[in-house]
Amino acid sequence: ISIQRDRRLRRTLSRDLAKKKTFPALYNLFRQGFLQSNEVHIFGYARTKMTDDALRERIHGYLSQGKGAEQTESLSKFLQLIKYVSGSYDSEDGFRLLDKEISEHELAKKSRPGTSRRLFYLALPPSVYPSVCKMIRHYCMNQSHLSGWTRVVVEKPFGKDLSSAEDLSCQLGELFNEEQLYRIDHYLGKELVQNLLVLRFANRFFLPLWNRDNIDNIQIVFREDFGTEGRGGYFDEYGIIRDIIQNHLLQVLCLVAMEKPVSLKPEHIRDEKVKVLQSVMPIALEEVVLGQYDGYKDDPTVPDGSNTPTFATVILRIHNERWEGVPFILKAGKALNSRKAEIRVQFKDVPGDIFRSKKHGRNEFVIRLQPSEAMYMKLTVKKPGLQMSTILSELDLSYGQRYQDVTIPEAYERLILDTIRGDQQHFVRRDELRAAWEIFTPLLHRIDDGELQPISYKPGSRGPAEADELLSKAGYVQTHGY
Ligand code: BG6
Repeated sequence: ISIQRDRRLRRTLSRDLAKKKTFPALYNLFRQGFLQSNEVHIFGYARTKMTDDALRERIHGYLSQGKGAEQTESLSKFLQLIKYVSGSYDSEDGFRLLDKEISEHELAKKSRPGTSRRLFYLALPPSVYPSVCKMIRHYCMNQSHLSGWTRVVVEKPFGKDLSSAEDLSCQLGELFNEEQLYRIDHYLGKELVQNLLVLRFANRFFLPLWNRDNIDNIQIVFREDFGTEGRGGYFDEYGIIRDIIQNHLLQVLCLVAMEKPVSLKPEHIRDEKVKVLQSVMPIALEEVVLGQYDGYKDDPTVPDGSNTPTFATVILRIHNERWEGVPFILKAGKALNSRKAEIRVQFKDVPGDIFRSKKHGRNEFVIRLQPSEAMYMKLTVKKPGLQMSTILSELDLSYGQRYQDVTIPEAYERLILDTIRGDQQHFVRRDELRAAWEIFTPLLHRIDDGELQPISYKPGSRGPAEADELLSKAGYVQTHGY
């Protein structure tokens, strides 16, 4: 996307992501005035031969569903910003043509002639990243006589293990500096993930409690109630640990567990995240349960003998003063009984409990990332009425009720805007990525070698029963009665 003034992007196409996330996000930014028609141009680049209009029509199909008449006009204005260039991922001619198209647009702009602000958004198979980045570097960044910037956004997977990720980082590092690279993890754009820092460091309540003396265990959970439909081929190469746990859930863990950063500067925050990752101990195999849902291998793109996990529970242990002895239980699964992502912080029992409130369960602080963003605290209270008995109840902050007039932005909307503004806080730094792969690579290699086999589970269930057993062994107590 080529943008004038404070707003500009450029990207290539990837159908699924383009349809569900990036184009809707771009359109929403446009509607809200963050991308102005006289400043922004969006160029699609892919191998398929197609006219500008054919691409516009396709995008119209993605965006028009459920839109009222009042949006029809803005949608057609948005579509006019889109152009298409076809070429292969290693074609000099293709990228020269792309550069020419962008330059023409830049020169024609009246608002800021002489500026070049280019955002390349790569939603591509990782195998072509190096060649595409080389092409961009050599053929689309020669506008040094103009003021502005070039930034490159890359989507995961960033490699398959430590060494492939390091190779990729080195190759990209030779072409771009770290300030130009935006490794996107869309969980960092979610409202309640962004809220974690505020919650932890702006509330006196939490400061003295957030540690091993008070917290018994922490769960970070991702569930989906659908399988790998249509993505079996991709998924089978990666599995649930690479797809969700090593990136999305680990990023959330960092924000839950890190120390207070020196300031809100992106580098200070990312410094603290790296320290947490570096303090994670090697994963113990007896603290891992893998699962695969029945029917996963019916997908023709999945090999018959696949042992790829579609479910995993993995316990991480952080070796530092704050967290020694507190299990961080990361759990993710496809084709489960519900769609939900949440953080559950379970506190220890009250010492010398005179109410025997233990029978209901413990204090638990739950942050629901999606759906229906909410935070609630499970508390023991006196059961209202004449008798003196206790129940477990909730202090509940449901965003839908409390902030009725606010539409919570989609993660991609926020993150794309950050890339335009040049804010790297919610993007993954190279050393974070390395540390994340260091944690999971030994386990992943053992799975890839067939040493660990997934347990089968029924689609629509909670996953393998062994995962619940591991949870209880780690100290999690099921709470009742609210
Ligand atoms: C993606 C994974 O990163 O995140 C998908 O590749 C998954 O497998 C998706 O479905 C979930 O995102 P969200 O925002 O719907 O929780």
